[in-house]
Amino acid sequence: MQLDESLQRVLANKDPIIRRFYDHFLSEHPDAERLFAGVDLEKQALMLTMALIVVEAYSRDSYPAVEHYLHVLGDRHREAGVPRELFASFRNCLIDTIRSCQQNDWDDELQEAWRRALDRATQTMFQGYEGEFPF
Ligand code: HEM
Repeated sequence: MQLDESLQRVLANKDPIIRRFYDHFLSEHPDAERLFAGVDLEKQALMLTMALIVVEAYSRDSYPAVEHYLHVLGDRHREAGVPRELFASFRNCLIDTIRSCQQNDWDDELQEAWRRALDRATQTMFQGYEGEFPF
């Protein structure tokens, strides 16, 4: 299965699977709980699900609008005090959650495609951390 098909499975899922992601991630990283104080995790899960559309698009091409969005998103994460060190674990938990709704169609190639796509988006978010983007 290709990345775009895998994304469609996530979007087509009636259960908010990405909501489960936060339970999983925060159980592994109770230290990150403070970052989400006062945050509505239902809405947060919805925004993260939509951000996966951006991540997949950015894996195909460096669309300037998408790049700009990722810079802004990085800037927001820096403002929210999110340490860069948490991104790798966040990515791994997110991939586990995506895999949980794809059963038999999952393979190493698809896992690697999600890893590459999330890492690429993360690198651009980190440019936003540095304020290296024109406004
Ligand atoms: C590829 C990595 C990530 C993506 C695509 C992503 C996506 C998003 C999106 C779309 C938002 C909503 C922004 C808005 O308010 O408009 C958000 C907010 C947030 N994210 Fe992430 N995120 C990522 C990594 C992380 C990591 C590693 C953490 C660490 C725990 C984190 C914690 C947060 C927090 C605390 C907020 C702000 C919530 C609020 O104040 O409403 N994110 N993220």
